[in-house]
Amino acid sequence: MGAYSSVYNGWKSDPEAFWMDAAKAIDWVTPPSKAFDPDQGVYGRWFTDATCNTCYNAVDRHVENGRGDQAAIIYDSPITGNKRILTFLDLQAQVVALAASIRARGVEQGDRVIIYMPMVPEAAIAMLACARLGAVHSVVFGGFAAAELATRIDDCEPKLIISASCGIEPGRVIAYKPLLDGAIDIAKHKPASTLILQREQQTCDLIEGRDFDYATEVSTAIAAGTDVACVPVKATDPLYILYTSGTTGQPKGVVRDNGGHMVALHWSMKNIYGVDPGEVYWAASDVGWVVGHSYIVYAPLLAGNTTILFEGKPVGTPDATTFWRVMADYKVAAMFTAPTAFRAVKKEDPDGLAAKSFDLSNLRTLFLAGERADPDTIHWLERVSQKPVIDHWWQTESGWTIAGNPVGIELMDIKYGSPTVAMPGYDVQVLSDEGEPLPAGELGNVVVKLPLPPGAFPTLWKAEQRFREAYLNEFPGYYKTADAGIMDEDGYLFIMARTDDIINVAGHRLSTGGMEEVIAGHPDVAECAVIGIEDQLKGQLPAGFMILNQGVDRPVSELQAEIVKLVREKIGPVAAFKIAVPVARLPKTRSGKILRATMQKVVDGKDFKVPATIDDPAILDEIGEAWKTYGS
Ligand code: COA
Ligand code: AMP
Repeated sequence: MGAYSSVYNGWKSDPEAFWMDAAKAIDWVTPPSKAFDPDQGVYGRWFTDATCNTCYNAVDRHVENGRGDQAAIIYDSPITGNKRILTFLDLQAQVVALAASIRARGVEQGDRVIIYMPMVPEAAIAMLACARLGAVHSVVFGGFAAAELATRIDDCEPKLIISASCGIEPGRVIAYKPLLDGAIDIAKHKPASTLILQREQQTCDLIEGRDFDYATEVSTAIAAGTDVACVPVKATDPLYILYTSGTTGQPKGVVRDNGGHMVALHWSMKNIYGVDPGEVYWAASDVGWVVGHSYIVYAPLLAGNTTILFEGKPVGTPDATTFWRVMADYKVAAMFTAPTAFRAVKKEDPDGLAAKSFDLSNLRTLFLAGERADPDTIHWLERVSQKPVIDHWWQTESGWTIAGNPVGIELMDIKYGSPTVAMPGYDVQVLSDEGEPLPAGELGNVVVKLPLPPGAFPTLWKAEQRFREAYLNEFPGYYKTADAGIMDEDGYLFIMARTDDIINVAGHRLSTGGMEEVIAGHPDVAECAVIGIEDQLKGQLPAGFMILNQGVDRPVSELQAEIVKLVREKIGPVAAFKIAVPVARLPKTRSGKILRATMQKVVDGKDFKVPATIDDPAILDEIGEAWKTYGS
């Protein structure tokens, strides 16, 4: 039996002992007397009698244990030309000062704080400062527009919002303050105050009495020497809420707890990523996504690693050498990003010449997740980096790897197109639509037998019924991942597609339903359908098909531009919505359900079977024609 099998089977035969052992790596205020309590929460809860503080484990204990002078965060921003290193001691000072300022704004344990920031160290400092106080943070990705931010404000009702004057995208500065003010205007809930980090690229005006200057607040707290102790919280108390796309425009507030989250993430650093404390770890993502939460901020810091906070793009800041330069400059041991990022690098530097010109001797492994890793990209990356390239599969909901290749335990044989095998904690199965287990090799619904492990979400923020309906009711006793896939005879999993209306654009998870709601709001649109079409670089791109109201007689290009602008304004540039196709009819089943999956095949030029339940098969030809005229 290989090392992986022995660890996985060890977990399966005694999960309680497995997680109690993993919990020893955490410094608890009150240690847990048991790992799992099946009687609490929707499907049980982890470490219910323990108390702890996540910030203490991510920051203070490293200072106490002699890591004070080690770099905790390396900020590298090719987009602004700035670099900065914060040791654990610096980080502690910044976090304490910000926590003092957050507390001075009336934020107490359990209160929510929204963080709407670009990729600057202050975003991570803000997360940790909230954790220190037991306040619950909710980070909102900077590429979302005001209306999306407003939805999140109304859902989690923050007392405070921490933001910045601007973010920087290639070729343009994005003023955040008008977006923030716009969101607060739209939202029913009004946060009492904001803390604004003024960036030199573009400052903003502050509203007297509501907006406070981040730098002034922090320097005042430092000058006053204000100390803020880590507040002990229950292991089951929420650390954060992270909104993710659901099937409607109303995002789902994924809740993460403190105790289980620390145990799982700490365990993952050595076992899944194979890194030791003190080594440099780099996740090239954004703090607004789950990858950023788990692997830019919490996991590396919990494990005593140096983490890199990179404000830039794989290409264009300034070019395709950037990723390799960062890996070499900081002696990165493990790097993690979305396949789309390396597809962008490959497009600009197909022979991977840049990789050869940097010293990558410290780099041991490259990790990919966030979307399907196509074998072409993996082969290319293996060739140019001369390192193992590991695909792993997980979700915002899980917070860490569901299926992966645990290099710290054993580097298993790679099967291209597969994120490898289930991690301890996850009993992954493939079921038919009727809930029957499927034989190896058959495509079905990928589910996880309950309970979910520590670190995975216990519920949705103030939406327990939605949690049950979206994830638990369809396959009783299991968590529905909403991914379709296959498990082969060796237990290798292959993730093929989503079973819902979620699409994955450049590693970003987006709701087609949410886009449809926006497009349907245009006065000239009677009905619409948004599908994800194949894209060489971003994996998928959204394309909207719309039936116009009778009598609308305007130039199509004018309408298309309005629809594109509307989605950008309501959802944000991150939706990458650029294609709007007018059609006379949409293909539907006789019961009126739009056949989105069939439309997708028509547009992608794939073989498809005309669904038996289709109302009128001729509509599929009309879609193909409309696509040729307006789409491609
Ligand atoms: N704030 C404001 N706007 C943002 C933004 C942010 N934080 N992030 C992205 N945008 C904008 C982009 O500028 C772009 O605007 P445009 O339509 O005016 O060009 C739009 O949103 C789409 O962004 P994106 O999908 O990221 O495309 P891109 O062309 O800028 O870059 C890649 C393409 C592949 C280089 C880029 O998507 C990438 O690096 N992806 C990595 C994915 C990732 O980190 N995923 C997280 C999970 S691991
Ligand atoms: P998110 O919640 O944004 O992390 O998106 C999760 C979804 O992205 C999953 O449900 C999958 O559909 C997809 N995904 C993430 N990682 C992978 C992977 N390694 N292989 C295939 N799909 C993936």
